[in-house]
Amino acid sequence: MLTLLHGSDLHFGKPFDPEVAETFKATIREIDPDLLVLSGDFTQRAKVEEYQAARAFLDEFSHMPVVVTPGNHDVPLYRIWERILSPHRNYRKYISTDLDTVTVVGDATVVSLDTSAPHSAIVNGRLKDRQLLFAAEAFDKAPAGGVKVVVVHHHFVSAHDYESDQVLPGFRRCLETFGKMGVDLILGGHLHRAYVADSRDAYPSESDESGIILAHSGTTTSKRGRARERNKNSFNLIGISRAQMVVTHYQYQPDRRQFEAVRAHRLPWGNQSALQHESAGNGGDV
Ligand SMILES: [Fe+2]
Ligand SMILES: [Fe+2]
Repeated sequence: MLTLLHGSDLHFGKPFDPEVAETFKATIREIDPDLLVLSGDFTQRAKVEEYQAARAFLDEFSHMPVVVTPGNHDVPLYRIWERILSPHRNYRKYISTDLDTVTVVGDATVVSLDTSAPHSAIVNGRLKDRQLLFAAEAFDKAPAGGVKVVVVHHHFVSAHDYESDQVLPGFRRCLETFGKMGVDLILGGHLHRAYVADSRDAYPSESDESGIILAHSGTTTSKRGRARERNKNSFNLIGISRAQMVVTHYQYQPDRRQFEAVRAHRLPWGNQSALQHESAGNGGDV
């Protein structure tokens, strides 16, 4: 069993909630996952002091593999010249020198791709052809039968209860390309609310038998939860075995000062190594 702990949108800076963050850190230590994934928006305004705080957070988990990716808040919004000339300067200095990465943990190959696109689409993101090629080359080297995971910040499928949001332009082509690569799972954040989607349900196609599961984390440590996670904090715990994948949403409970499992999605692997989405009783409370 491979265990991925997936949080997002920490937002060091004004919206950051230190009490929730302390609990989140304790929870990571307690679960001790095989891989920690943080899918973007480490900061609120890409400021040095926000990045220093984010770096200090990451340093506490230097003993475990960590996959990161930049979000739209990790490039400067108002410092125009910096955004044009060196948008990822602080991210590269404090979080990761590389914007697109490959991490192999057990049988899983995890490719993170920067969707922040500071020059063209600061809010809803972009993926470039060269990034899809980067992912294809990484997955070509993946072990046969291994799990293929993509980590991005932005979303390819809208959350059901989220109003007036815009998915990443070119989402259909990206999903089709990832499908051809045999990608099983896409992890993201950005919307500040947790949800699980299946590409076959979101964009039905007669020829598409091997769907991709998309799992989003809410904001794990900021006060800006949205939609049904307004004022809430969450992360996902993902367990992957040969038989199935289980995505469990954990939500912070302020009265008990702990994260607790609130919903789980059980996703059995199909006969042709495709995932078959089988939610445990319409989202199945645990
Ligand atoms: Fe965010
Ligand atoms: Fe975002």
